[in-house]
Amino acid sequence: MSSVAHTDSVHSAHVLDEVRIRELFPILAATVGDKPLVYLDNAATTQKPQPVLDTLSRYYAAQNANIHRGVYQLSQNATQAYEDARAKVATFLHAADPAEIIFTRNATEGINLVAQTFGRSTVGEGDEVVISTMEHHSNIVPWQLLCNEKGARLRVVPITDAGELMLDEYESLLGPRTKLVSIVHMSNSLGTVNPVQRVVEPAHGHNIPVLIDGSQAAYHMAVDVQAIGCDFYVVTGHKLYGPTGIGALYGRRHLLDAMPPYQGGGDMISSVTFERTTYNEVPHKFEAGTPHIAGAIGLGAAVDFISGVGFGAIAAHERRLLDHATAALSAVPGLRLIGTARQKASILSFVLDGVHAHDIGTIVDTEGVAIRTGHHCTQPVMDRFGVPATARASLAMYNTTEEIDRLVAALTKVREIFG
Ligand code: ALA
Repeated sequence: MSSVAHTDSVHSAHVLDEVRIRELFPILAATVGDKPLVYLDNAATTQKPQPVLDTLSRYYAAQNANIHRGVYQLSQNATQAYEDARAKVATFLHAADPAEIIFTRNATEGINLVAQTFGRSTVGEGDEVVISTMEHHSNIVPWQLLCNEKGARLRVVPITDAGELMLDEYESLLGPRTKLVSIVHMSNSLGTVNPVQRVVEPAHGHNIPVLIDGSQAAYHMAVDVQAIGCDFYVVTGHKLYGPTGIGALYGRRHLLDAMPPYQGGGDMISSVTFERTTYNEVPHKFEAGTPHIAGAIGLGAAVDFISGVGFGAIAAHERRLLDHATAALSAVPGLRLIGTARQKASILSFVLDGVHAHDIGTIVDTEGVAIRTGHHCTQPVMDRFGVPATARASLAMYNTTEEIDRLVAALTKVREIFG
């Protein structure tokens, strides 16, 4: 993939070859009615490049076997491919050790795993878990369930009118009762990129572990869990240009070692009698049952693909798109952007005077433009900004300025219909 991004010899900047990238995503050639598809719902899920599709099809056609169980060659090869994928994800997130990567179904399962294992064994009555106003429901509800069960309290960091974390208020929430901080890296409904190191440092000053939800961030920017210093980090494969049904949880080895298992079953055990079970080592302790083998291998191919394009090229391209889209959308009469943080990436949430977000989504769809409308699984964000819903365009490496112009033209049609 190194040929996809080339180095501009004048500026020494990585430049993404838009045409070649788009050719690698077969679905981008689709039409909606007679209109070419403009896919701007990447925060919900990204499309899949040919190398990922080929890897999945090759796995099922030629390599399928269960893992960690067979002495025969096919099973050993499948096991090797699955463990290679774990190592690729570890490298992608810059984890110190592949054993610190646990395959999950998605980011939601990663958060639930931490809540049900670390959380249930650590949080007690009167303790506190700190989250923020801009969390996805998947980083709210698991902690609510835990707090309700334990008689603990959920504390919420407020956000500014621009959609930025209020860091002074955050620090004032930390104390001896705080057992965990769980904060999103990049908001799915505002686009805010949080200063995660500045979230981790004060928490660690109180010996409080920190989980970072990287669902959105990990396909827009290079993530280095060691540089961030977090204790847990979750990602989901289908947003990383990979398959659905696979995700990963990074956890510091000493924390994972100390945590009780999540689900019981095959592969997570060392020995079983009716009296007593001993558990396998991490990461296997947390991967009960036959895992999503093809999904993990497909995720390995996806992170290889992203690394081949390179975050230098991806981030520069998406920055250009975001700047173009911000200017173009701001010029639409009656349009208000929700989420104007100084540090933001690739997401444009907006409302249009007198038009419900769902009507916007339905009308732009008739022009072939796919955006998401609703509360984006962040109802507290909608409450914070006093809106029932927003329309959201979210960008990925294969989008173009022409596609943004198609969205803006479709919004003009919305304005004409609603007068
Ligand atoms: N959390 C995903 C989104 O923001 C599904 O659309």
